[in-house]
Amino acid sequence: MNAKLPSSVRIVEVGPRDGLQNEKQPIDTQTRVQLVNMLSDAGLKNIEAGSFVNPVWVPQMAGSEDVFSQIKRLDDVRYVALVPNIKGFERAISVGANEVAIFAAASEAFSKKNINCSIEESLDRFKPVMSAAKNLGIQVRCYVSCAISCPYEGAVAPQKVAEVSQRLLEMGVYEISLGDTVGTGTPADVSRMLEAVLKIAPVNKFAAHFHDTYGQALANIYASLQMGISVVDSSVAGLGGCPYAKGAAGNVATEDLVYMLNGLGIQHGVDLDKLISAGQFISGKLGRQSASKVALASAR
Ligand code: HMG
Ligand code: MG
Repeated sequence: MNAKLPSSVRIVEVGPRDGLQNEKQPIDTQTRVQLVNMLSDAGLKNIEAGSFVNPVWVPQMAGSEDVFSQIKRLDDVRYVALVPNIKGFERAISVGANEVAIFAAASEAFSKKNINCSIEESLDRFKPVMSAAKNLGIQVRCYVSCAISCPYEGAVAPQKVAEVSQRLLEMGVYEISLGDTVGTGTPADVSRMLEAVLKIAPVNKFAAHFHDTYGQALANIYASLQMGISVVDSSVAGLGGCPYAKGAAGNVATEDLVYMLNGLGIQHGVDLDKLISAGQFISGKLGRQSASKVALASAR
């Protein structure tokens, strides 16, 4: 197999957050909790279990406190909380989030729509989060959305992604998750973007977070692995999308990612059968077919 590929990949499961935040129908706490428990039981060690944003903006993530309070905690699992500001950080910490993820963008228009401030203002908002996290010994991850394109501005310059990433790394985030929020990117776009960011920091500082709107996510992940990326975000059953990126599909399905990693002989620690069961569970609750090709093929 290609010598450049990593020997193991850390999967960050974002289904309970990125996956469910965009659903139209209400999802009860019990379902959210059971989904997280099934994912940890399948062997996922990094699970973004909810977000602590303004519930007026994203109603599906209201009550993330209850989710964090009721999940069955496994010692070796990091339950991550998405937080936009210090208020969100305090809410997340009060219910025992092990790690937080903040989120910035490489596009001004998206920053404004998604978090109601400019990129520069967002960095200011993150400062109190960074210092509070440091005091408590909590690690902070950061998304950079629109790493390829923006739903409002179109193509985003790789240099802009690198600049924003550099500022965030200087502020102390341990990892930048590069979001193809809209899911328009192809492997050529991803390679160009990664070339730019790899000039400012080593590859172990970056993760891939690719939405699958145009069916390119797995190809884009493969291109990223070839460039040394070894942390990949994904969403069980391919759930998801961002409420401020209209028309964007879910993340790459975790089942499809695991299947590809198996084929490449790359370690990941996830039990595919249990993962498929978790995907069937949530798809059943949502009353629709899974977006995972592997889950569908296995059911035949
Ligand atoms: P704002 O309105 O500018 O905030 O929103 P504000 O500070 O002026 O406060 C206004 C009100 O919001 C106040 O309440 C605050 O208390 C409240 P009021 O006094 O009017 O009653 N508030 C909060 N309430 C609960 N929790 C909080 C919080 N903060 C303020 N943390 C804000 C700014 C960032 C809060 C808002 O824009 C927001 O919540 N945005 C969330 C957007 C979002 O969740 N988007 C989806 C996630 S991002 C994504 O999916 C992309 C990603 O997957 C990567 C990728 O794919 O690219 C991560
Ligand atoms: Mg996303």
